[in-house]
Amino acid sequence: MVFDIIRESFNNLPAFGLDFSDRSIKVMQLYRDGKRIKILSSNRRKIPSGLLVDGEIKDADGLVKEIHETLKTASPFPIKNKETILSLPESKCFIKVIKMPKLNIDEIEETIRFKAEEYFPLNAEEMYLDWRLLDTTECPINNKGDCTDILVAVASKNIVESYLEVMDKSDLIPVVFEAESVATTRALLRDEAYTTGSVLIVDLGNDRTSFIFYKYPTLKFTQSIPVSGEKFTLAVAKGFKISFQKAEKMKYEMGLSRDSEAGEKVYELLLPLMEDLVSNISKSIDYYNDYFGTSSKEDFKIVICGGGANLRSIDTFLSKVLDKSVEFANPWREINATRLIGQGSAARCRTLFYTTALGLSLYNLSN
Ligand SMILES: Nc1ncnc2c1ncn2[C@@H]1O[C@H](COP(=O)(O)OP(=O)(O)OP(=O)(O)O)[C@@H](O)[C@H]1O
Ligand SMILES: [Mg+2]
Repeated sequence: MVFDIIRESFNNLPAFGLDFSDRSIKVMQLYRDGKRIKILSSNRRKIPSGLLVDGEIKDADGLVKEIHETLKTASPFPIKNKETILSLPESKCFIKVIKMPKLNIDEIEETIRFKAEEYFPLNAEEMYLDWRLLDTTECPINNKGDCTDILVAVASKNIVESYLEVMDKSDLIPVVFEAESVATTRALLRDEAYTTGSVLIVDLGNDRTSFIFYKYPTLKFTQSIPVSGEKFTLAVAKGFKISFQKAEKMKYEMGLSRDSEAGEKVYELLLPLMEDLVSNISKSIDYYNDYFGTSSKEDFKIVICGGGANLRSIDTFLSKVLDKSVEFANPWREINATRLIGQGSAARCRTLFYTTALGLSLYNLSN
């Protein structure tokens, strides 16, 4: 499920993944070495505020400079490839399985475009649209046999075009645009453990949290909410009357662990935001069960990723409050990434912010 704008033939080095956020750029290039996939080069660079705001490009020239700098300083080698697979911000892409009556194949595109207006906050003429017919022998909605289920993704044309312009100015060739959630899913769900039951990926980023519902073999729907790592830090900064930088450090050190007096206070400050997150997760699961006609007892696995998944004790907190299994994502499975992430599971967690970039760069190694 992609917005294939160009789909040029790749040259012999696979295209690299480019993941934009409002405050950071992440890049990753992989290569295949026999059966193994290895990281050729990668980088994460914090970028000044104001270049991108809620996924919208506000300063194209500033962003171009940051992209070049990120590629130039990638480690261990600068990334020189031009073919790029890039993410579109989750808040500007909408993905959902839509149920329709059986359709004549000639009228399908037009009907989906028309129907998409009902489900997504965009007009038909403003949207890039991609869709895929699902195998409807088992209709996932209400178990009715007379419907067609279509996985539909839409993105705003203006947004896609503004990213195309930046690619052009950066002298890069955008081969594929993908919603972040599609790339994240590719990175995480290569595991057989996810072929049964429903999976909810919670991507805790700096600017927002994304929910990605997946049931083998398809992504079902996505949602993005404004609870974010930055808001966590701001709450700590305000509570202790300290700078953002100091608060960020304190948040890293204490998280939700409550193992000191200061830790207890950090916990108190973060609790309302955590409660907001939990209430959104619960509402989202209810909506999923309702829409897809699944039982509320459906076995849900929650997988957390993104930099915010490093918040100390977040897994035990969520698992206890939601009464569901919560695990850390492991995007590195068969990937030789020791040089980047070091050894051990703690080190693996610290690199969860690379999940989307990894999923993007896996695109042309796994398709
Ligand atoms: N050890 C840690 N404890 C708590 N939070 C952490 C830790 N490490 C990173 N973070 C938080 O992770 C966030 C960054 O995560 P990530 O890089 O996934 O976000 P992003 O991709 O830039 O943003 P978004 O996906 O929202 O656009 C920051 O808010 C940062 O404070
Ligand atoms: Mg992100």
